[in-house]
Amino acid sequence: MTTSKMGIATAAAHPNIALVKYWGKRDEAQLLPFQSSLSLTLAPMEVKTTVEWQSRAPGVTLHGQPAKASESSRVLALLDVALKQTGHAASDIAAALANVRVTSVANFPMAAGLASSAAGFAALAIAARSSLGLGRDVVEESRLARLGSGSACRSIEGGFCAWRRGSAADGQDSYAESVAGPTHWPELRMLVAVVSGEEKAVKSRDGMRETVKTSPYYPAWVESAEAEIPRAERFIRERDLTSLGALAERNAWRMHATSLAADPPLCYLRPETLALILSLEKARAGGLPVWFTLDAGPNPVLLVESKHASEAEKLARAAGAKETILCHAGNDARLLDSHLS
Ligand code: PMV
Repeated sequence: MTTSKMGIATAAAHPNIALVKYWGKRDEAQLLPFQSSLSLTLAPMEVKTTVEWQSRAPGVTLHGQPAKASESSRVLALLDVALKQTGHAASDIAAALANVRVTSVANFPMAAGLASSAAGFAALAIAARSSLGLGRDVVEESRLARLGSGSACRSIEGGFCAWRRGSAADGQDSYAESVAGPTHWPELRMLVAVVSGEEKAVKSRDGMRETVKTSPYYPAWVESAEAEIPRAERFIRERDLTSLGALAERNAWRMHATSLAADPPLCYLRPETLALILSLEKARAGGLPVWFTLDAGPNPVLLVESKHASEAEKLARAAGAKETILCHAGNDARLLDSHLS
């Protein structure tokens, strides 16, 4: 399809937290995973992204700062794909990219350690397509968002989404689909517990690459994570938090175990992380139903029902959390009428 439209568009998307993690790519260029993953979008945290072509002030600005070269090149690589998909000639693409302005802001502190990149790239994919005259299409948006950051493909639709790993070499069958909408489990809460504001030493992208290359446990990780997906879907359908919580913990421990077995070892756990997550078993024995998941960073996210959220928050604070953010399932990512300046 050829279009000459090069306008302006803005989209908003929530970050997501994986209950079955994505950890390792079978294709680094197309960002294709070895295994499927499953996550929940987190409101009220949100990222807004504006794409404006033929701007008088081109450049990529993230959270009020000029983007680093590595961030900027990932943004421009995604826009390059969107331009090709809309039939722009190779000769016009360089000029288009030199004159595009991308602005992105998050409404949550970066210290939360929750990658704003998933929400940012999801919003970027939607805004990019719209600014080029394309209508909404969640599958196309999910595939495009995946090229920015794998987990971003799970932030297009709200509620619970599963990223099916697919098998095609071109990645056409590797995108996320909705497993249950944002209103499916109204009592469910996710409490982000910020135990450390330190930036992680090894980014997910590098950590997973090293794990794939050097961890002898990696094949077992892939097999076990893939097998958890249908079980997780069943527990979500049944709103069975005890089973889903246990599954999320098991999956997080296994992701960290395969990383710990890399050479050199990759340890994302801080003493404060362990203090909190090791306290949960006792809390459960004492009648507080709470479980954790943990991405490639020090800050656990607790799964709990709304009636136990304030107790979970007290527990997190007592174990050393400096800040907590209480989240519920987020809605679908959406286009906005007003743009970031
Ligand atoms: O999409 P990336 O490159 O930010 O990697 C995400 C990796 C984890 O957050 C650890 C797991 C996941 O599935 O979100």
